[in-house]
This record gives sequence, C-alpha cells and structure tokens, in this order.
Amino acid sequence: MRVLSGIQPSGDFLHLGNYFGAIRQQIHLADSHEALLFIADYHSMTSVRDAALRREYTQGVALDYLACGLDPDRTLLFRQSDVPEVCELAWLLSTVTPMGLLERGHAYKDRIAQGQPADHGLFAYPVLQAADILLYHADLVPVGQDQKQHIEMARDMAQRFNNTYGEDLLVVPEPFIPDDVAVVPGTDGRKMSKSYGNAIPMFAAPKAVKKAVMGIVTDSTPVEEPKDTKAAVFQIWSLFAEDAEREDLFARATAGGLGYGDVKKDLHRRVEALFEPMRERRAALEAKPDEVEAILSEGGRRAREIGRPVLDACRQAAGLGARV
Ligand code: ADP
Ligand code: TRP
Repeated sequence: MRVLSGIQPSGDFLHLGNYFGAIRQQIHLADSHEALLFIADYHSMTSVRDAALRREYTQGVALDYLACGLDPDRTLLFRQSDVPEVCELAWLLSTVTPMGLLERGHAYKDRIAQGQPADHGLFAYPVLQAADILLYHADLVPVGQDQKQHIEMARDMAQRFNNTYGEDLLVVPEPFIPDDVAVVPGTDGRKMSKSYGNAIPMFAAPKAVKKAVMGIVTDSTPVEEPKDTKAAVFQIWSLFAEDAEREDLFARATAGGLGYGDVKKDLHRRVEALFEPMRERRAALEAKPDEVEAILSEGGRRAREIGRPVLDACRQAAGLGARV
C-alpha cells in the first residue's frame, strides 16, 4: 500500500492545530505504509510569484517536517519540481479531462466568484494534482476535507486515461480522510487557525509560546467551583496527556478546587517538553542547509525512479516517442 500526500509551501507558521490535526498523522503513516510526501512547489506558482520566497517556503516545509520527526529513510520527502515528469503526465491527463470537470473546481470557482482573474495554472491545478498522485501509483491519499474534490477528480482522470489507453496504466487512488481527528480549539475556544490570532505556535520563540498558552481564555469560575472540561484549556491540555491522566484531571476539575492557572502552567510544561526538542532540531537543521538539500535531492531521485516507468508506460500506450 503506497501512501502519498503533498503540502503547499505557503510560508505559514505551524501551530498546535496543524501538528495534532495533520502533521503527526502524516508522519506516522510511514509506520505502516510506504510513504511519499512532497512539497508542491509547482503548485505554489499559482499564488507565490517570487522565486526567492518560493525557495524559502519550500525549505521551511522541509525543516518543519524533519523537525517534527519525519524520518527521511522511511518517508520519501521531496520537491515536486525535482520530478518534472509530473508535468508531462499532467499534459497527458489534460487531454482526457473534460472542461466541465475543471469548471466545477472549488479553487477556480472561488477565484472567479471573487471577481479575481484566474490563470490557466489555477484552472488546471487539479490536473497537476492528479498527476502528482497517479505518477507514483499511489493507493491512498491522506488529505483534509477541503481536498476531497481534488482526489475525486484524480480518480476520474485515472479511469478515463485507463479506458482510453489501457487498463492498469494508472492506479485509481482512494482519499483517506480520517474523521476521528478532533478539531483543536484555539486560545479563544474557536478552531485554532493562523488567521484567527488564536494559535499556539510550534516554532516561535519560547516567550511567545508561553504568552499564547497563558493567554488561553477562561471564564471567571472561582477555583473551588466545578469546571467545565469542554473549556479550551482542558481540551488543549488533553492533547498532551495519557488517558489515565486525563480522567484524573477531569475528575479534579469537575469536583472543584482546581484553578485554571495551574492547568495552564502544567500545559505549558507539557508543550515545552514536546516542542522544545523539535524547535532545537529545526534550528540545528536550519544551520545545515546542505544536509536538508541532500535529503530532498535523494528523495527526489528515489521518487523519480518510481515515477519514470509509470510515465514511460503511459507514453508507450498513447503512441508517444519511439516504439520500444
Ligand atoms: P489554518 O486553519 O491555520 O489556516 P491550514 O488550513 O493551513 O490551517 O491547515 C493545515 C492542516 O492542518 C490541515 O490538514 C488542517 O486540517 C489542519 N488543521 C489546521 N487547524 C487545525 C485545527 N484547529 N484542528 C485540527 N486540524 C487543524
Ligand atoms: N492541493 C493540496 C493542498 O492545497 C496540495 C497538493 C498538491 C496535494 N498535490 C497534491 C495533496 C497531491 C495531496 C496529493 O493542500
């Protein structure tokens, strides 16, 4: 079973919601599957127009994942653009993709609805994404709900290509949308999001992390009164606790006598215990760009070894290039 996913390099800082909601699961997939993870730098061209920024963001994603514990010996981590074969496969797929399918694409429709100009890259974004998946014969694509439509389009394109040029050329992938991943609340109780100003950052300076944790909004229930364990502070704390610890703390909260301040201090201690080593690993790697580059290049080389034969078979079946 081959699992593949892609991440857009956007330059965004990572927060606890990203870690518990996505990254941790992406990294652990390699425990039980053959895993490929690439940084979608070609895709970023639909939004980022600055070359230096693109490199910086791409490097940033690599640092984030390596710092979070991605083991490059077990997960192929690579830059999308190191396997340019993906662009050729995108062309092949585009010739069996109806306009109507792409016109229904959310990203494209949203851009048009906002009255903003859309270029062909954005329109064809789902075709390149399909090529990303199909080039590597990926079976399973773990993504968030927002990407479900793109995976369905990739399935559609694989089936059409196979129907046209030969069954078994491309593997029809399945989306993998875990529904048991809880939404991590932010410091104000809404979903944690970088755009709400309610995030607890992973890789910010220790002071900023502490400020965010201590700033979690709580009500004015006095210490001795029972507390509602659905409050953000308890829910966030739970992410860092074992089941037995949670039961214990929740029982104390419900009984009364437990102050929010103490929970926050303990939470901060746990946040640091998990993220401080990651922060250090990230800083250490940042100081060794050659090492990161070697990981990405080697990942790209190995990914290309998987993708090249798949493209070659598609070319042959479609009557392209010299007959072999
Ligand atoms: P943001 O909401 O900060 O803009 P993104 O949309 O960039 O975050 O999310 C990147 C990934 O992190 C997605 O897979 C998303 O599902 C996950 N994620 C983001 N915020 C949360 C959250 N509060 N709880 C659970 N998962 C989250
Ligand atoms: N479109 C995805 C996103 O915005 C990133 C992506 C590109 C991707 N190619 C992919 C995800 C292939 C999964 C598989 O998050």
